[in-house]
Amino acid sequence: MAGYPDHLDLGPLNRASGTLRLPGSKSISNRTLLLAALAQGSTDIHDLLAADDVQRMLDALGALGVSVEKGGRAGHVRVSGNAGSFPVKRTDLFLGNAGTAFRPLTAVLALSGGHYRLSGVPRMHERPIGDLVDALRGVGADVRYLGNDGYPPLEIFPGNVRGGGGIRVRGDVSSQFLTALLMALPLTGSETTIEVVGELISKPYVDITLNLMARFGVVVRRTGESSFTIPGGSGFVSPGEMFVEGDASGASYFLAAGAIGGGPLRVEGVGRHSIQGDVHFADALAAMGARVEMGDNWIEARAPESNRLRAFDLDLNHIPDAAMTLAVAALFADGPSRLRNIASWRVKETDRIAAMAKELRKIGATVEEGMDYLVVTPPQSSILTPHAVIDTYDDHRMAMCFALAALGGVPVRINDPGCVAKTFPDYFDRFRAVTWDSSVPVIAIDGPSASGKGTVAQRVAEQLGFHYLDSGALYRLVALAAIRAGTGLQDAETLGRLASALPVEFREGRIWLSQDDVTDAIRRDEVSAAASLVAAIPAVRQGLMLRQRAFRRAPGLVADGRDMATVVFPDAKLKVFLTAAAEERALRRYKQLIDKGFDANLAALLLELRQRDERDSTRSVAPLQKSAEAQVLDTTGLSIEETTSRVIQWFESAQPRVPSR
Ligand code: DC
Repeated sequence: MAGYPDHLDLGPLNRASGTLRLPGSKSISNRTLLLAALAQGSTDIHDLLAADDVQRMLDALGALGVSVEKGGRAGHVRVSGNAGSFPVKRTDLFLGNAGTAFRPLTAVLALSGGHYRLSGVPRMHERPIGDLVDALRGVGADVRYLGNDGYPPLEIFPGNVRGGGGIRVRGDVSSQFLTALLMALPLTGSETTIEVVGELISKPYVDITLNLMARFGVVVRRTGESSFTIPGGSGFVSPGEMFVEGDASGASYFLAAGAIGGGPLRVEGVGRHSIQGDVHFADALAAMGARVEMGDNWIEARAPESNRLRAFDLDLNHIPDAAMTLAVAALFADGPSRLRNIASWRVKETDRIAAMAKELRKIGATVEEGMDYLVVTPPQSSILTPHAVIDTYDDHRMAMCFALAALGGVPVRINDPGCVAKTFPDYFDRFRAVTWDSSVPVIAIDGPSASGKGTVAQRVAEQLGFHYLDSGALYRLVALAAIRAGTGLQDAETLGRLASALPVEFREGRIWLSQDDVTDAIRRDEVSAAASLVAAIPAVRQGLMLRQRAFRRAPGLVADGRDMATVVFPDAKLKVFLTAAAEERALRRYKQLIDKGFDANLAALLLELRQRDERDSTRSVAPLQKSAEAQVLDTTGLSIEETTSRVIQWFESAQPRVPSR
């Protein structure tokens, strides 16, 4: 897949904590797009997920003649509704492996009086759709199979659709059949009752459908567990504006990471008022002993007090997607865990029961696999098998949940990581930004400009043979890249994207931006001033987080900046805060500039330094602050050598000493 490697090596990792904003929910994004297209009036949709499955829906709506305009902000689109019909009456649609596009479009198009062909990737053609087609034929739709009976691809002809009365559909293969009928039947204009035959699985997904339909003005009446009455009337009406919640299934990986890797790990974008059933994954984690808290728009997970997750035996029919995360979390439990009532896994992106069993065994688990259940027993003494090579079966969730295995302190290879593009394109970047290996020591050296921290940090790294991170250089690089690209320094969104995608390389003591040596360019005054502005933007700080944490490699790291101890490496083995009187710092900078043959004015430097101190320490995000645990060192009057050896002494006394023989 473009932009992704063949495989990705993760770990060993043993800690997870931090905060992240979730991408939009796939289920809500695709339902909302379709409802908006069917509604009267136009709908502004915000926080729409940018991922393959949603693109399939957008492409399909485009092919059907629906106008979807992109807004100025990422994730904003305006859909002009067509009041229940599509301008294009005859076309072919390719829907990839997007079930949330395929099933509802089948139903809607079957009732729309046009002539359409719908196809997908080979796996989509192995995923059953016969129950939905039978139900649609029951109201007079003309839907035919182009390949095997009961499976896509399909051809739809204008049928003889009768509105009103009753319609029956099976509920035990996929709840998406019911969802599809619910969204399509209001187009007939007559009151219709859907009777679900057999147990209805994955009920919370149906609740998402009902909730969103209600926002578009169609309130479905439920009479009993399995009967749904759609009122007759004029169909969907746009509410004007819709906000897509963060993806609760995507949240599950990070919450599990928090429970396994200590936490606290907070996800933002879903919370206690979520309409997504997968937020109940949090209950399952709590049943494992994890400490979980929920706010209106966030959920946070931490490891149990005892640090040991409990084994579980749970019916997971209501959270089939997030349940995959539990299967991997079971590797970290104190005994065998049983996942019950998960038969729907067999007809998803891959046969998830078989795939999960096979891959969990590679990592040392003993797995019992049934038609509709799995029992996962962690390896003896909980030690996972290192260097497992995990196959992902073109299934985004397989790739995402197996990243958690690396938190067992072992390296894990994920094959075809690009399959996450289906629902969560930057998943691995986000995962790496909140996980690390705490056994690699970090020395965090923070302090104001010209406190000497850069030079000292570099010397300490050299003497200990550690890696070195000059985090200020990253902010300077974002500033330089923005200046070069003509990006306004107020444009937080573009700057955030620049920060996360910065093409930078630190090589042979020089700094390269897209093959250009910018070591000196980033020290220019213009760049210093711009760096201090971009450093106050949360999206920039978040975008640089991963890059900074990625410097943490054996045997150790010395990192200098403003928030190394407080935000980026809160578990640093040694935290140092260097200061010096402003006059002394201005004098140092003055001497540096004169030595380099530049003109300099001491009074101007002092003024500028004071202004920068003020900005860096009063900004609302990650202001320069001394961590409570930091050792403070005022370097006024101290030489670089004296400061360096003081830091090394501190580090050595912070290390457990190896007894001499
Ligand atoms: O240390 P420096 O002067 O190279 O830093 C450049 C700018 O980046 C400065 O204005 C402070 C900011 N910065 C930051 O906010 N956080 C860091 N960890 C490092 C630098």
